[in-house]
Amino acid sequence: MRIFLALLLSTTALPALAQERPVSLVGSGVAASSAQNSATRPIRFAAAAPAGSTLVVPLLRADGVAAATAGLPSATAEAIRAGVAAARFEPKANTTLSLYGVPGHARVLLVGIKPVREVPLEADIANFAGTALQELRGDPAEIAILTAGLPADAAGYAATQAAFGAQLGQYRFDRLKSTSKAPPVAPVTVVTADAGAAARYAADLQHVADATAFARDLVTTPATELYPESFVAEVRAQLRGVPNVRITVLDEAQMRSLGMGSLVGVGQGSRRPSRLLAVEYRGGSGAPLALVGKGITFDSGGISIKPALGMWEMKGDMAGAAATMGAVIAAARRGANVNVVAVAALSENMPGGNAQRPGDVVRTMNGKTIEVINTDAEGRLVLADANQWTIRQFQPMALVNIATLTGGIVAALGDEYAGLFAREETLAGRLMTAGGKVGEDLWRMPIHPSYAEDMASEIADIKNANEGGRAGSGTAAHFISYLTPEPTPWAHIDMAAVDRAEKALPTVPKGPRGFGVRLLDQLLRGYESR
Ligand code: BES
Ligand code: ZN
Ligand code: ZN
Repeated sequence: MRIFLALLLSTTALPALAQERPVSLVGSGVAASSAQNSATRPIRFAAAAPAGSTLVVPLLRADGVAAATAGLPSATAEAIRAGVAAARFEPKANTTLSLYGVPGHARVLLVGIKPVREVPLEADIANFAGTALQELRGDPAEIAILTAGLPADAAGYAATQAAFGAQLGQYRFDRLKSTSKAPPVAPVTVVTADAGAAARYAADLQHVADATAFARDLVTTPATELYPESFVAEVRAQLRGVPNVRITVLDEAQMRSLGMGSLVGVGQGSRRPSRLLAVEYRGGSGAPLALVGKGITFDSGGISIKPALGMWEMKGDMAGAAATMGAVIAAARRGANVNVVAVAALSENMPGGNAQRPGDVVRTMNGKTIEVINTDAEGRLVLADANQWTIRQFQPMALVNIATLTGGIVAALGDEYAGLFAREETLAGRLMTAGGKVGEDLWRMPIHPSYAEDMASEIADIKNANEGGRAGSGTAAHFISYLTPEPTPWAHIDMAAVDRAEKALPTVPKGPRGFGVRLLDQLLRGYESR
């Protein structure tokens, strides 16, 4: 039979009989697609708008057109002023007005900026550019983004933030469509007198935009393609040739011999083996900052299986791990002056014949035991071992978890904020500040001492869920804190509500936000010695 098969396999046209499923194969073996997403618009910088381009004009006040259009021919500037007045356009944050028939430009798009303070923040500028690129998605013309009218104080970051917002706003995931009508790719020109902007963007924010797109791709990629081993391969590919990076991957046998029963237990019902991935980037001095993300490549709930409605979104239950990897990839590529270790705790939570059962007791690496009341509370289980290993291995100066951890945080905060839990004030403050600066806002949540009683187990050191689910996000945070050795400063971001944008945000088309990449990147910048 074996010889017969070998003969058949050597012919080109395979009869159905020969396409037997190799024993080792997981999944159908038929890839949906191997194509890349369609190309986006290249982004350039120049001192003047290209002729015939669609002009994007940021506007802080209705009477600010003259300042915003400084440098344009007077007939063009006057036509824009007249159009804004006739439309009675009152610029608010990210409101838009299109004008047609302006001399020299077939279309002019005015975009409002309403800064909280007099000078727009970096995020305000990224936002107007992101809004423009989304609005102009189908526009075949070149796009020119003016920055002259932005206050002089913002000059240092106006051009690069406009480019950053434009790049984030034109993100798309279309590689699984067999017939895709790709949007136009005529270039974007950021119009600026700042001759150094192009080089600064290429060396810095461009890497953050690319890493955010990478995180978004991972969240959207179906679990047929994205599982612990392929997650590791994707991250490796991003870091090939990047200096000062060391990658460590633990397989299940290694984790088992280290006693990581809590992490390995989550993946034991899946044909896809778990992995622990650590990416160390050393660009500074001293103990590293550790970023440890939940990387459940699919969360069915396991034996405590989830209802069907919305379960598909659980292909994105690795968004926290995507954020930690995005942040370290950006840091390494921009050569940040900081030491960081990003860790992804990777498992697939499936209800297989060998899956763990409610009532099982598992043991973590440092010997603490956990009664698994609910197999759907799996994120905290993988993070417990990942945190213990990270602290033992790297002695970090602080550890930040980020995870799509609980439904409770969705109920509490909607999609305006991610929840922040912390047992150390300096770290919490740094995270709040970083989030506010980049427009990924955090809201501080409590870890009340009574949560310890809610999570007490009768037969183990702690249980992984409290029946009834009171304070579901806080008790989850307590669980992780309890299993994360002191005195390491520790904070945890529950991003369950903000992993996807249900409707478009200025720099996020509807879909995965890549939440956390910009936030953690900003956090790292705060530790950089300049
Ligand atoms: N991955 C989910 C949390 C989640 C919910 C993420 C909605 C994104 C959107 C997590 O593993 C989970 O199932 N949590 C449970 C825990 C409960 C069983 C104790 C929850 O929060 O309901
Ligand atoms: Zn779950
Ligand atoms: Zn989960």
